[in-house]
Amino acid sequence: MYSAISKSAPLLARGPSFSTTAMASISRITVIGGGQMGSGIAQVAATHKHEVTLVDVSQEALDRGKAYMAKSLKRVAKKKHAEDEAAQSQFVAEIMSRVSLSTKPQEAVSRADLVIEAIVENLKVKQDLFAQLSKAAPQQAILASNTSSLPIGKIAELLDSQRKQRFIGLHFFNPVPQMKLVEVVRTKEADQEVVDSAVAWVKAIGKAPAVCKDTPGFIVNRLLLPYMMEAIRLLERDVASAQDIDTAMKLGAGYPMGPFELCDYVGLDTIKFIVDGWHKDGEGLKGNPLFASSTKLDELVKQGRLGVKSGKGFYDY
Ligand SMILES: NC(=O)c1ccc[n+]([C@@H]2O[C@H](COP(=O)([O-])OP(=O)(O)OC[C@H]3O[C@@H](n4cnc5c(N)ncnc54)[C@H](O)[C@@H]3O)[C@@H](O)[C@H]2O)c1
Repeated sequence: MYSAISKSAPLLARGPSFSTTAMASISRITVIGGGQMGSGIAQVAATHKHEVTLVDVSQEALDRGKAYMAKSLKRVAKKKHAEDEAAQSQFVAEIMSRVSLSTKPQEAVSRADLVIEAIVENLKVKQDLFAQLSKAAPQQAILASNTSSLPIGKIAELLDSQRKQRFIGLHFFNPVPQMKLVEVVRTKEADQEVVDSAVAWVKAIGKAPAVCKDTPGFIVNRLLLPYMMEAIRLLERDVASAQDIDTAMKLGAGYPMGPFELCDYVGLDTIKFIVDGWHKDGEGLKGNPLFASSTKLDELVKQGRLGVKSGKGFYDY
């Protein structure tokens, strides 16, 4: 996929004292949802010496999240300590020792500086979770959602105005350990100090922040979704094969993946879910033909051809 570098560099502009203060205030992180994204966020935060609590609905889900992290860290350890198995194990164990697991969200956020939610992409479920968390998290804690497609302001809708000032989007990219970018999404209500602290923290965990307003798709997906949908429409109109379109964009535009490789990687059900939602009632996007449904996409999703995760999509894996 793609990465982007923030050009604003607010930390450098403000000097080291700001960075120390902001970073010192975020050291205990609670990540809610230990799936693909949550476990990656927990791994990266723990690698950068933060105390992390990972929360999920069951011990089984937590064990799965822990296994993702351990597997990913082992790969890093093998590169770092090529011939030294003891050093590899120590590297993994040291990072994992900073990660606690919990099935009790309220208890897990009670001492958190930053709470990042990465649970199922469902507005009501996210709203209810934050309503619950706001009863237990410290008043100064920053609350954040990693949603890809839901408005951050809507997720915070049930919270009081003080909480809304400390609520932002922190949109990581998949796979989290490899992808440099984090979109820091600023709602109308969010305090500048909260955005600055989040930017500083993103840098402190080795990522590159890009700050943007709370609008559908933020930056990356707002540009990528029309691109992927237009590629699907080229295929529907039989302009070229999927392979030729991918080759054209890789070699002609210098993209690391062609649009169909990208669609399969993201998941065709995910793409359909996002564009259908935006077309139906996305702020400023409702009825926009860029996001109209596509027969080809609908058919593939119906057939269970969801991309890499199901073994078949535009391509077979
Ligand atoms: N997968 C991606 O490429 C990607 C990229 C960026 C952002 N996101 C966003 O990140 C979020 C998570 O996506 P994912 O791909 O990691 O999903 P996933 O299905 O891999 O993981 C979700 C996890 O959340 C847990 N969960 C569900 N409800 C919960 C609750 N109420 N409390 C605690 N845990 C709960 C599930 O048990 C599961 O382990 C979504 O909002 C998604 O839009 C996904």
